[in-house]
Amino acid sequence: MKNIAIFASGNGSNFQAIVDAIEGGKLHANLKLLVCDKPGAFVIERAKKADVPVYSFNPKQFASKTAFEEAIYEQLKKCDVDYIVLAGYMRLIGAFLLEKYPGRIINIHPSLLPAFPGKDAIAQAVSAGVKVTGVTIHFVDEGMDTGPIIAQRAVEIADGETEEEVAEKIHAIEHVFYPETLENLLNEKCWKVLES
Ligand code: GAR
Repeated sequence: MKNIAIFASGNGSNFQAIVDAIEGGKLHANLKLLVCDKPGAFVIERAKKADVPVYSFNPKQFASKTAFEEAIYEQLKKCDVDYIVLAGYMRLIGAFLLEKYPGRIINIHPSLLPAFPGKDAIAQAVSAGVKVTGVTIHFVDEGMDTGPIIAQRAVEIADGETEEEVAEKIHAIEHVFYPETLENLLNEKCWKVLES
């Protein structure tokens, strides 16, 4: 089984969905570490409850992005992490970690990329008046939500639906779709399906 670290900055509902999928036998992976760049974030409480070790740090206490990524890397090495899974980590991954984990950093984003990258993707979609948005899971590169796409799910926006209502639908999909896609990717099930 692959060893994973989740990087998150906020509420951590996707972190929780991955924990639950592992506990429920739907995702075969060892969750070794939560990395959090916001020491007060609720995701840290979730990790403590689930007995997942936490490395939290304040980026402002480091001289540069490379300096805090080096500190993160020390923790990842200790846990022998194979893949980094971003789940609401609201920060670009820098050259240092990209080089250490080529093709092994995955992100989830609440839109059908390349539409609506960056922050507030759900609000961007609602205010643009699109009728379909969705969820994208992709490999991370140096850009903002720009790496190669692994999988996508569409979500319809009905007339008059609010941002909160769309967010609820998107999150419900994310919580199933992310563990499923990780299971396929980490355990190479997508290739087995293609071969059969
Ligand atoms: C999720 O909707 C995720 O797709 C989004 O942040 C939310 C985190 O929620 N990520 C991005 O916007 C990345 N650009 P959570 O903390 O409850 O998992």
